[in-house]
Amino acid sequence: MRRDKGCIGRMFALNRHGPKRPDKDNPMTLPISRRSLLGAGGAFAGFALAPRAAFAESDRIETLIGKMTLAEKAGQLSCFGDAIRPPRVPFNPNAVSSSAAAQIADIKAGKIGMLFNGVGYSGAKRAQQAALESRLKIPLVFAGDVIHGLATVFPIPLAEAGSFDLDLAERTARAAALEATAVGMHWTFAPMVDIARDERWGRVSEGSGEDTWLGQQMAVARVRGFQGDDLTDPTRVACCPKHFAAYGAVQGGMEYNTVDLSMETLREVHLPPFKSAFDAGAATTMSAFNDLNGVPASGNHWLLTELLRDEWHFRGLVVSDYTADKELIAHGYAADDRAATRKAFTAGVDMSMQSGLYNAWLPDLVEKGDVPVAEVDAAVRRVLMLKEQLGLFDDPWRSISAKAEKTHVAMPATRRLSREAGGKAIVLLKNDNDLLPLSKAPGKIALIGPFGDDKANLAGPWAFMNDESIGVDIASGIRARLADPAALTVVKGAEVDKTIPGGIDAAVAAAQAADLVILAIGESQDMSGEAQARVAIVVPAPQQALAEAVAATGKPVIVLLKHGRALALQGAVKDAPAILACWFLGSETGNAVADVLFGAVNPSAKLSVSFPHYSGQEPYYYNHRPTGRPAPDTGSQEYKARYRETKNEALYPFGHGLSYTSFALTALEVGATLTPTGSVPVTATLTNTGTREGTEIVQLYIRDPVAIRTRPIRQLKRFERITLAPGASKQVAFTLTRNDLLFWGDKGWTVDPGTIDVWVATSSVDGLQGNFELAA
Ligand code: NOJ
Repeated sequence: MRRDKGCIGRMFALNRHGPKRPDKDNPMTLPISRRSLLGAGGAFAGFALAPRAAFAESDRIETLIGKMTLAEKAGQLSCFGDAIRPPRVPFNPNAVSSSAAAQIADIKAGKIGMLFNGVGYSGAKRAQQAALESRLKIPLVFAGDVIHGLATVFPIPLAEAGSFDLDLAERTARAAALEATAVGMHWTFAPMVDIARDERWGRVSEGSGEDTWLGQQMAVARVRGFQGDDLTDPTRVACCPKHFAAYGAVQGGMEYNTVDLSMETLREVHLPPFKSAFDAGAATTMSAFNDLNGVPASGNHWLLTELLRDEWHFRGLVVSDYTADKELIAHGYAADDRAATRKAFTAGVDMSMQSGLYNAWLPDLVEKGDVPVAEVDAAVRRVLMLKEQLGLFDDPWRSISAKAEKTHVAMPATRRLSREAGGKAIVLLKNDNDLLPLSKAPGKIALIGPFGDDKANLAGPWAFMNDESIGVDIASGIRARLADPAALTVVKGAEVDKTIPGGIDAAVAAAQAADLVILAIGESQDMSGEAQARVAIVVPAPQQALAEAVAATGKPVIVLLKHGRALALQGAVKDAPAILACWFLGSETGNAVADVLFGAVNPSAKLSVSFPHYSGQEPYYYNHRPTGRPAPDTGSQEYKARYRETKNEALYPFGHGLSYTSFALTALEVGATLTPTGSVPVTATLTNTGTREGTEIVQLYIRDPVAIRTRPIRQLKRFERITLAPGASKQVAFTLTRNDLLFWGDKGWTVDPGTIDVWVATSSVDGLQGNFELAA
């Protein structure tokens, strides 16, 4: 049985004593400004989430619960895809299983607590009106998958994570909240905080990559950006860190696959971003599709109740993923719908998404004594509490504004933010002989590949309100930069995964007539995201053939990669003198790419995922544990941990990323000893040794080289973005505490005293090395 305390007094709330409520129809009074979107002030300067203060007893909620029938309670615990304003892109199977009229009737009958993925003022108004005509007049909450922007699309989260810029992540989430609320949403199913170490998985694109510490920091920044410090603000959305838990560890990277994890890996790698997001005040979470060591996450009492409620004291709402409760049957964990409902609900899933199981079975389960009504009340209380936190009881029309829909969507400031984010997300993987940046008159350029003037693949996955017409393609971005726009020729050469008759010949001719080739190749946006696992993480064969033919002309080639995951680069793509990892950058792709190509923006991003040499090396991540037979760097020795065909080093490791300037780290100093309650300082000096201003991301890694558990060969524990003028230096100062050394042992979190290695570095494989003693 659940162990919910069921007491309002112990629930938490975000601060409700914020600034005076703005007028939702007057954008000038909204707490968003050019400065708050674009200002690059220090992360979280002047910003703090209110502590988890206790909610005052809510008579309103208790009175409502007292009046509700069992069917109405089940209705509040049920949510469905919006059939009144269905999304343009159907991203869930059978996304719309109801007609608008049938859904309105269900809302009036009190059978729906929340609708998701609908967009637009008029439909929201119609649905909310229906809710207010239901017997108890409980307002609906509208949710949606606002993963990286909405009408204005920002870089995919994986790319944004590579900026290591928490202030940026907070501002893009804040801007996404502004657009989401302008089209009638209150709650986003984001951030996705799943750690993903296998690049075959399509949903790598939605998270922050392979590293737990980076994932934790990004999770917190995004929670702050979405929620702010006052959820009654009609321009803020509640957020939903997902998918709880360990969805990123699906075996073989295959979507929806089983997950089998040690408690050590679960606790140390996959759970911390959730814990950080909850500690930052995230209002809800979503239970995952996958099983976890034999028990499906959405029926997992240990996960959803013992860990989440009893150990972590999370008081927010748990919504299932899409039909995940019903899927307990296919998992072989429940015999039928009734059992699936009972198992999901009693494990700790408060709200059922899309299956309709709770409406169908919860009343019967209570009547027959299989589910205590107090547990149903506790779950209903959490739904109503979310509505209360959002201010919906006082103002059911919050975030439903005809005016905001016109004025707050695709604002110029939001577009500029997308461009800034794009520039900060592009990783310069390689730049032989300083081929980049280009001058304004670099001669004739042949832009070759399926993504040159393509607008259909700018956004990446989860962009269901993306307006393609406002997107800036790569060709337009480059052309706008050229002294002579006619110097650019655009040739497709190949489709994403199909040859074009005569395509290669046309591309080769264009390359021969040019001084420089820019190859825009990689994955289409529907090759990553949900249900898009790949067996080989490569540039599709027709594009690889195109690259080989173009490179054979001998012209200098700059590769612009489009991708939702790390790729195993081969042949001419890998050997090109300059390579930019451009991911899916969103609405301002072309401008952001041109900013970097022509040096208006000096690239600063680092890889949030390692690039292996071959797909067969996946799962491939930098912070793996050692083996008893480590291979030498050459990888050439038999009877060592290695593959026959390649060395173990990454092609491009986590944390790698070049700049148009160069940096040097010197003068590492590490405190001698870390006592149990003390801290140890780690300092080094960063110098810009090149000729341009640039930004370096200084990374601090640790290793516990001998311990009662084998420890990762390196773990990121701190980072800092530092911008320096040419010749300038700055001391970077970090502080480590015992918390940074904790690992999961036989009896829970522990440390093993002794020497701890430290690196201050510019990637996960370089750096200055020192050490300190961790005292007992
Ligand atoms: C299924 C996805 O796994 C989840 O991330 C998403 O929020 C829901 N569908 C709703 O669209």
